Amino acid sequence: MDRGTYDSLFDRLRVEYSTPIQAKEEFWELVALVTSLAPTNVLELGVEKGGTIKFWDEIVGPGGKIIGLDINLGAVTMPRDFVSDLELIEGDSHSSEIIQLVKSKMPVVDFLFIDGDHRYEGVKADFENFRPLVRPGGLMAFHDIHDAGVGPFWQELERTYKTSKFHQQSGGIGIGLLRF
Ligand SMILES: C[S@@+](CC[C@H](N)C(=O)[O-])C[C@H]1O[C@@H](n2cnc3c(N)ncnc32)[C@H](O)[C@@H]1O
Repeated sequence: MDRGTYDSLFDRLRVEYSTPIQAKEEFWELVALVTSLAPTNVLELGVEKGGTIKFWDEIVGPGGKIIGLDINLGAVTMPRDFVSDLELIEGDSHSSEIIQLVKSKMPVVDFLFIDGDHRYEGVKADFENFRPLVRPGGLMAFHDIHDAGVGPFWQELERTYKTSKFHQQSGGIGIGLLRF
């Protein structure tokens, strides 16, 4: 996705559907990186209104697949037919049944976006449970790495893995990246 397409899609989604819940410059850095990865299979934990999903859909294109998992799909404002290759699953990302369901539907993930349970234990569990699905060379991103819950876990990852991050100084809360 190029910058012009990104700008018009981001502005449109914010005006029409109040989504995505992202800082525009910081999220652009992620979108540009995911574009260069050219993923086929994308998994998002934490959909809320649905805006971030629309960007993955634009990047993946025909033949790809996107799964969006959320404990409450009632908040989605984006029309379902707005995204072509999407499967939305309602459930708790910490439930073993849900983890197995996701694995059965997408055993190999190119890009995993973790933006669900923001508590320390929650984001840690999401990392541990879904990390085995990410293929070698794949990408994992965490939103809100300066949040009170995600932050301490992200700092642990920074001490253990080679990571990088984007942080828009004005209004951003940080996106962390881990490449396998
Ligand atoms: C910050 S919002 C996601 C925002 C969205 N990715 C965006 O940028 O527009 C977090 C979402 O995670 C969901 N969530 C929280 N805990 C969860 C869990 N244990 N399993 C699945 N979803 C969860 C919430 O329902 C909420 O919709």
